[in-house]
Amino acid sequence: MNKGFMVVFDGSNGAGKTTVIKGVEKYLISKGLDVLLTREPGGTPIGEKIREVILDPSTPEMSYITELMLFGAGRAQHIEEKIVPALAQGKIVISDRFDAATFSFQHYARGIELQTIVKINDLALNGFSPDMNIILDLEPAEGLKRVHSRGEGLDRLEDEKAEFLEKARNGYLVQAQQSPEKFTVIDASQSKENVLKSVIQVIDSLLASQLGK
Ligand SMILES: Nc1ncnc2c1ncn2[C@@H]1O[C@H](COP(=O)(O)OP(=O)(O)OP(=O)(O)O)[C@@H](O)[C@H]1O
Ligand SMILES: [Mg+2]
Repeated sequence: MNKGFMVVFDGSNGAGKTTVIKGVEKYLISKGLDVLLTREPGGTPIGEKIREVILDPSTPEMSYITELMLFGAGRAQHIEEKIVPALAQGKIVISDRFDAATFSFQHYARGIELQTIVKINDLALNGFSPDMNIILDLEPAEGLKRVHSRGEGLDRLEDEKAEFLEKARNGYLVQAQQSPEKFTVIDASQSKENVLKSVIQVIDSLLASQLGK
């Protein structure tokens, strides 16, 4: 059996992650591949409870370190309970956000020291790393317009100032520059169809490189 691999979709709020993931799932299933969709925060029963706590708009007083550790706790559970077993079964794991988001939002946007993020993240990851992060890059204002057009209320993290969202966006771009082998940046201002086409090119090359292993 082939070893599975993991792709993360990440980027600004409203960049189109959920939309493109649905298209990628359809594409992979049409190729007869076994796909597992998951998300962060969340992904497991415990993780989904943690998600509710993190995103609850009624508790704006949550401290940055509490938030960071909640993300870390959820990630540790996610990896152990769900991701590692799925990869061992040869599945392609697709996660809507993962550890790059912690660097972007908690370090680059919130300003928590990098070393603190690394400590918590290393504890959570325990040596694990996804194979590829696909960053859907979009002007945060454009992403917020898209979120509003979806007609839902904002959660605690979406309800942040433009400057915060701009810093998070740049955080993704810096990570992509620093680790080009782990990141691909896609221009998410394109039409849904063209975003999906660009993403499928990346997925195809990952599939090809897996076959070569
Ligand atoms: N390329 C695109 N062009 C225009 N609209 C888009 C595009 N991709 C997605 N949308 C629309 O923008 C809205 C947000 O998309 P989606 O929910 O996929 O984003 P998201 O990144 O998952 O958001 P969130 O960060 O809130 O989870 C949806 O209404 C979706 O239909
Ligand atoms: Mg989404």
